[in-house]
Amino acid sequence: MSLIALQNARPETAIVLGSGLGAVADAFGIESEVAYGEVPGLSASTVPGHAGRFVLAQHHGKPILLAQGRRHLYEGLTAHEVTASIRFMHEIGVKRVVLTNAAGAIHENFHVGGLMLITDHINLQGTTPLLGGPNFHDMSEVYSRSWCEKFHAASLEIGLKLHAGVYAGLLGPQYETPAEIRMLRTLGADAVGMSTVAEAIQARALGMEVAGISMLTNWAAGLRAQTLHHAEVVEVGKTAGMYLARLLKAAV
Ligand code: HPA
Repeated sequence: MSLIALQNARPETAIVLGSGLGAVADAFGIESEVAYGEVPGLSASTVPGHAGRFVLAQHHGKPILLAQGRRHLYEGLTAHEVTASIRFMHEIGVKRVVLTNAAGAIHENFHVGGLMLITDHINLQGTTPLLGGPNFHDMSEVYSRSWCEKFHAASLEIGLKLHAGVYAGLLGPQYETPAEIRMLRTLGADAVGMSTVAEAIQARALGMEVAGISMLTNWAAGLRAQTLHHAEVVEVGKTAGMYLARLLKAAV
């Protein structure tokens, strides 16, 4: 598909698929795709487990845009650069976006392989895509409460346990130390990852409705006897991605 065809389809809903979650697009039925490299200002991710393309699908008779793979600050990019795809979505008419990611579980009641609806975030990345101007945007409801309710209703409908909590976004790319995880828990974080917050801030600043879902791929550092490996994060994401696809299809 050409970039023009993607623009002409005017999808109003988009889903950004995080680490190992790219296959969720298959569940929607891929209609056509455009590599990020074909979109001015965008480029493919350098991270294993992240494809770099937009996929157009149809859901309930409406076009839906899926972004397979995202850019991260830890690749050495600025917050403005990692949020280029959000501005592109806004330009082509996207009004609401679901941001998904892989995250480490901090809350003791959570389970690995489970999903957490993001109710709020803590930005510990030390930067924001809004740098450079007096962009004093309100961030008191980054993640749409009404959309959260729809996700909860959809999870009950399909019999899926959906956790809810606060996502702490860190810079990475190294995983956290046990001391950092204890600090995050004290600060009120329920899950930890290295993405999403910059995109959520950018989308809200543009007036888009935002939802966020974390796939809990592992216990955060120090909470269990384990060491963390990216390949495992991607692997858990693949198996649990099936549940995420069902939830997204029911809620969007
Ligand atoms: N920490 C940070 N990012 C992550 C983790 C984690 O434990 N798991 C998946 N992404």
